[in-house]
Amino acid sequence: MGKKEQYSSRGILRYEWMFGHGFLSYGGADITRKLASQVDWEPGFHVLDVGSGLGGAAFLLAEEHRARVLGVDLTPEIVEIAQTRKAENPGIPVSFQQGDIHAFDWEANTFDVIWSRETLLHVPRKDELFGKFYRWTRPGGCLIITDYARRNGKGSPAFEDYVRESGYPLVDLETYGRVISEAGFEPLHTQDRSDLLIAQLEKQIDYLKTHRNRFLEQFSENELAECRQRWQLKLDACRSGDMKWGWFLGRKEAGPSS
Ligand SMILES: C[S@@+](CC[C@H](N)C(=O)[O-])C[C@H]1O[C@@H](n2cnc3c(N)ncnc32)[C@H](O)[C@@H]1O
Repeated sequence: MGKKEQYSSRGILRYEWMFGHGFLSYGGADITRKLASQVDWEPGFHVLDVGSGLGGAAFLLAEEHRARVLGVDLTPEIVEIAQTRKAENPGIPVSFQQGDIHAFDWEANTFDVIWSRETLLHVPRKDELFGKFYRWTRPGGCLIITDYARRNGKGSPAFEDYVRESGYPLVDLETYGRVISEAGFEPLHTQDRSDLLIAQLEKQIDYLKTHRNRFLEQFSENELAECRQRWQLKLDACRSGDMKWGWFLGRKEAGPSS
């Protein structure tokens, strides 16, 4: 599935069906809470969600941690859905802007937390972006990222085809972590959570199997086959070690002012 089709209106809803209401990434509210528990929240914390998708994380962080969340996302159809959901919940301090994260700029030290889930896999020049993230984070603030990564070395032909067709410029976990550190985030905690991704993929494949008929009320047989095939491919790639799930927690030291 190409990038255009991946985030077409139908593709978005199909992904949301797989991931759960508000999410286009793994683990829904549970994983969001687990990641959020790494932050010492204070009311009013300003969060930038890079690639905010349908806003699942933004709403949760605002409701459960009294954060003010700005979500930025490239895909107009996705942002439109997130903005509609915001309009239905006007009291929640979240907002969504459409655009490429590379085109935005904020003052130094603007955000307490920069958060990004399964988005930077789309970004080839991560070093420039992490430099900006560092500048935008206030001293003592943090960066939370989960993202796909790859094995260091060549993967199976099926995995290499998947990477090529998806156009994801994936890097290995060590390189990923090094780029974040070089931007200034220290200490950086890098975790290989491929075990958790395998569990999530197995759960989703199982759910699709048991809720097949419900899926077919909204989508076609072809779409079902495509979802199954794509999820199975990711599962195989994780099990073989070709694909990895990286969790990164970086902090900006309390000392520097930019
Ligand atoms: C897999 S989805 C994850 C969405 C969301 N983070 C979540 O957890 O549900 C990836 C998102 O990144 C967005 N995206 C991709 N490249 C981007 C860029 N350069 N700037 C902003 N958003 C981007 C896509 O539009 C998509 O919504």
